[in-house]
Amino acid sequence: MADANRQIVPPIRIDFSTDDKKWIAEKITDVLTSGRLTLGVYGEEFEAEFAAMHGVKYAVAVNSGTCSLEIIYRALDVKGRDVLVPADTFFATAATVIAAGGNPVLMDTDIETLSTTALEVEKRLTDNTAAITIVHCAGLMTSEMPAIVALCKARGIPLVEDAAHAHASTLNGQYAGSFGIAGSFSFYPTKVMTSAEGGMITTDDERIATEARIYRDQGKASFHQNSHIRLGYNWRMSEPCAIIGLRHLQHLKEMVAGRKRAAALYFDALTAENCGLRLIHEPKGNSANFYKFAAYLPDGCDRAHLKAWMKEEHGVIFAGEAYEFALQQHPVFQHLDTGDLPDSLYACGRQVCLPMFASMTDTEINRVVDGLKAAKIAGVL
Ligand SMILES: Cc1ncc(COP(=O)(O)O)c(C=O)c1O
Repeated sequence: MADANRQIVPPIRIDFSTDDKKWIAEKITDVLTSGRLTLGVYGEEFEAEFAAMHGVKYAVAVNSGTCSLEIIYRALDVKGRDVLVPADTFFATAATVIAAGGNPVLMDTDIETLSTTALEVEKRLTDNTAAITIVHCAGLMTSEMPAIVALCKARGIPLVEDAAHAHASTLNGQYAGSFGIAGSFSFYPTKVMTSAEGGMITTDDERIATEARIYRDQGKASFHQNSHIRLGYNWRMSEPCAIIGLRHLQHLKEMVAGRKRAAALYFDALTAENCGLRLIHEPKGNSANFYKFAAYLPDGCDRAHLKAWMKEEHGVIFAGEAYEFALQQHPVFQHLDTGDLPDSLYACGRQVCLPMFASMTDTEINRVVDGLKAAKIAGVL
């Protein structure tokens, strides 16, 4: 029977210190006083610092990770053509292809990395492919990125990174969002860093950066010109959001270090023998931000039952799966099912994500570990 006084281990925690809240409140007071509440100096500072940290020339702030993708697809003009996207991703990775006039084509999952292999990309490429999107699911980056980059270069097809999960993740020392023509980040509250709502486009390509600035502001030629030259939208980031994002960005490296520490403790404590889970490790060369700590369930284990049991018996609330369902399993995307995406079904269907956040304490980690070991003994896992 569960102990009613026991502290729960939450799936995630969004941390702003007292100092952070004071800093944010002061800066928001600034912009309330000046009246420059959107596309102002804080947004520019956020862009400059984000670009510097991710090793790219340009970063363009927008109001979601969804519109950052749509802007990239529009700037690449995918209209009437195919964009390869993983089956194991968020709705927006594919929905924004359609919004930009293109056709998403699904790629199967590499179970070891939750990403896509170069072979899988090559298999789905055709003369009608306008772009290829790789998603760094859970903050992991596949060691096949250099091979995928080389393949895209050889075929002259732009590579897009949906790095919504991958702030400050690196592969061989290179940051997510700097491998292709453009990267797309999300600052939704549950992400590794947040701006409340928001997104960022990263690129070394001046044309893409210029197009992104045009698209995010109603397709206007410039901030002060009322001439609309693209079919843009209101995709601007407000100054209060930029201020929140700027503060979290200043803590990004230490927040990632906190997640890495928690991940290292999980890796030390959990084995297939003592808990039955098959943990997903960082691919070779990858320094992941551990947006999610993902693992596969053993055969026969019922995910919903395990999650309910861990909550009831141990007060441990699992994080949501990176993706519970592959895209082709959603009614709206059934028509994209090519019938040869089995590993995406496995990766989504057999995955669990343990509680993970930067400020996890040893006590919280031990509670998760002890609960999982007990689940194995009880035959729930
Ligand atoms: C892989 C991926 N792409 C895009 C998005 C969309 O980002 P946003 O929620 O900021 O619009 C998400 C959001 O969770 C995501 O996980």
